[in-house]
Amino acid sequence: MEVLVVGSANADLVVGVERRPGAGETVLGTDLAVHPGGKGANQAVAAARLGAVTALLARVGDDAHGALLRESLREAGADTDGVLGGPTPTGVALITVDPSGDNSIVVAPGANARLAPDDVVAARALLSRAAVVSTQLEIPLETVVELARRLPPECRLVLNPSPPAALPPEVLRACDPLVVNEHEARFLLGASGGRAGSGSVEEAAWAAALLELGPRSVVVTLGARGALVASREGSEWVPSPAVRAVDTTGAGDAFTAALAWRLARGEELVTAARFAVRVGAVAVTREGAQRSFPTFDEVGGVAKG
Ligand code: RIB
Ligand code: NA
Repeated sequence: MEVLVVGSANADLVVGVERRPGAGETVLGTDLAVHPGGKGANQAVAAARLGAVTALLARVGDDAHGALLRESLREAGADTDGVLGGPTPTGVALITVDPSGDNSIVVAPGANARLAPDDVVAARALLSRAAVVSTQLEIPLETVVELARRLPPECRLVLNPSPPAALPPEVLRACDPLVVNEHEARFLLGASGGRAGSGSVEEAAWAAALLELGPRSVVVTLGARGALVASREGSEWVPSPAVRAVDTTGAGDAFTAALAWRLARGEELVTAARFAVRVGAVAVTREGAQRSFPTFDEVGGVAKG
């Protein structure tokens, strides 16, 4: 198997808004849309749709949202044997999207909070077959820790620490790469992170500071501006093709999944990132998360950045 994703699966309840309400304020939005989402399921669907041999280890509820997620994964061609059910309801993400395509997300974890270290232990057969394992932080941190401990020697761990949390050194050291956006980078660097600059000099300093935390490599994603790829050997800027953003939801997940897949195929990190920015760029031009992810052929049509 090329990519094993260990992570969350959510039903995304999405409302378009002219602008986000402030505290104590009410605004009217568009009609409600319900889409399959969750950073883990998003990555699994994104990788599978590109053509990667992919499996997801996750927990959903025995409910309609869980069925929606299984269906989306199956349609994309991901292995769902590791998608476990149970009485706890499927996770739900409450999402608002504004006219610029930016979103705000609140996640009610539901069954995701039940994905336990024991589930990782029980999935040892899946784990032993994976070239790359990709995970995020919408599942319990102790599950991510167990995963880092049980990683087969030849297997690469890709971690997107979202939503951000303090990571134990043993997890940070296992990351190759650690994939962060601006929020996540700033969180991990604490006050020393400062602001993202407009030039590559500031981001290179960020990446260097993140490498100090222990990961073998770092990818800083900066939305429309592309990504900075850094390892002990140095750093390189990978620009993103210019596209018109409709909905950025899940674009980061698509980027990370594409990266994980190309790494599983043995590509260099920078080469993998050049492909991944194009996948992310397609995802932002369409509504929703999983439903916006491209096939391999659709990526070919996007101008190279
Ligand atoms: O990264 C986007 C995802 O974040 C959404 O699909 C939502 O479910 C939340 O997990
Ligand atoms: Na999208």
